[in-house]
This record gives sequence, structure tokens and C-alpha cells, in this order.
Amino acid sequence: MKNRSLVSIDDFSKAEWLKILNLAEGFEKNPKQRLLEGNVVATLFFEPSTRTRLSFESAASYLGAKVIGFSDASSTSVKKGETLNDTILTVSNYADIIVMRHPREGSARYASEIAPVPVVNAGDGANQHPTQTLLDLYSIRKTQGKLDNIHITFVGDLKYGRTVHSLVISLCNFNATFHLVSPIELKLPSYVKRHIKDAKLKYHQYTELSEAISKSDILYMTRIQKERFSDPIEYEKVKNAYVLKNSMLEEARENMKVLHPLPRVNEITVDVDTNPMAYYFQQAQNGVYVRQALLTSILGKK
Ligand code: CP
Repeated sequence: MKNRSLVSIDDFSKAEWLKILNLAEGFEKNPKQRLLEGNVVATLFFEPSTRTRLSFESAASYLGAKVIGFSDASSTSVKKGETLNDTILTVSNYADIIVMRHPREGSARYASEIAPVPVVNAGDGANQHPTQTLLDLYSIRKTQGKLDNIHITFVGDLKYGRTVHSLVISLCNFNATFHLVSPIELKLPSYVKRHIKDAKLKYHQYTELSEAISKSDILYMTRIQKERFSDPIEYEKVKNAYVLKNSMLEEARENMKVLHPLPRVNEITVDVDTNPMAYYFQQAQNGVYVRQALLTSILGKK
């Protein structure tokens, strides 16, 4: 993985994903390993973020690296009209690795092709979010004791949800069974379904959440992505499509865990938070260990 970019989850092999997860277990036991002293990590966030940016910065800080970057492009020369090309070539002079989130699909691939340093995609529009996938895989393995043969239910915005796209693609390597709960307008894109079909795996589609809960080892809730809708009326129609309440978990399997990449808006009520099945805040914590593993692997220190 040394010096390689991670733009799409399948830029790395299954063996490499598993290596990251195994390294992350070591960082969970001992996060304060100063393996990146002397390195600089740039975090360029052209779109809002809490978890991804701060967990990358936390990971880099625990490893002894310096962090530069921005969380609001309007405070940079982008505001004056600087292109993505020029921003990436400039920041490449200042950092050993670039972590970038951008609203445009394909922007991270473009950045990786022009940058002389590795680029990590921290989310490009509605396309992919591969580092979220690594922490999701870590969370699934930690809670289920395995990655193979799980039944996973994805709920909500499967069309625009980039975390869903990357995770489905990765789980095609682990013989998953997919349960897909969404409004008709927000179904999983056909290019992602193609991965499931090519792997000869099963998927079932529903419009009612109650039909899928009892079939799930993992219930992966997602937010309806308001910012991706061009017509606000279309968003209003689906914004409250699914709301998970604590009482709905009574029929769930004992081993089931509720995951959510967060932020949530109203799709999980707060009474779920104290249910032992709720795992979304621990999932966000796992992001630090996984991103430590990723940074040290790409920078050649593991
Ligand atoms: N999961 C995730 O990408 O969260 P943020 O948007 O807060 O980074």
C-alpha cells in the first residue's frame, strides 16, 4: 500500500483491507505510537465533515504527524477562482499525503492522477467513501466476530449514500446477503447492484423497514442526503421515510447491531442510543484506529 492512493474501495485488495483491519486492532490497544513524526498530513475538506476530518486529524496527531488543511474552502484561494488542479499541485508541496473530501464525483480520482503524493478519498459527492468502508468492516468484524456470510440491511438513501456504495462493493467479497430498504426514488444504483450480481450474491428489496429487521445481523441506517437533491420538493417527499425507534428492535436477532455512518437527522430516535444494539458512536470511534492503520501503511511505516 506504500505511496498508493485510495480513491475507490477496490483500489486495495481484500488482503489489503484485512491487513488494515488487523493493524487497526493494534492501534485500538495502543493508539499513541509516534510512527509519523516528521510527516505532514493535509486534510482538504471542500464539503462539511465532523467525523472523517476530525478522526483523520486525531489519528495523525496520535501518530506524531503535523496536520495542515482547511474545513471550509471559502477561506482559501478557491474563493478567488483557483482550480482543483492548482490547489492539489500546491498542497502536494507542503504535505506527504492528501486526504480530500469534495462534492464532485470523480474529483478524488482526478486529484490522485495529478498529485505527486498519495491521495485518500474522504468522500466524493455521491460516489464513494472508502475509508468509511474500512471502519464499517472493522465494526462489523468486531461485533459479529466475522465478515463472511452476514445478512446486512441498508436503510434509507441508497441512491446518494456513498458509504453504502463502497460498503456493498466490499461485502461482495464476503458472501453477504443484502436487504435493501429504500423509497422507490432512492434505490441502490445499478452500477452497485452489478457488483452483487457479478458476485452471484442475493439481494432483496423492500420499501418497509419492518420487513427486514428480523433478518439482519447488521442494520445499516443512513440519512436522506438533502444536499444531493436538485428539487427540494422531492426531498420533502422522502425525508421522513424511515425512522428507527427502540420498540422496533424487539424482533431483532440477539447479535444484531445498528450502524450508521452519521450524522443522523431523525432516522434513529434517541431512545435507541441506550439499547445495547446501538453501535454507531463506537463505530465512529473505530474510525481513528482504522485511519491510523491506513496512514501508516500508505506512508510506509507499517
Ligand atoms: N461518516 C461521515 O462521513 O461523517 P462526516 O460527514 O461527519 O465526516
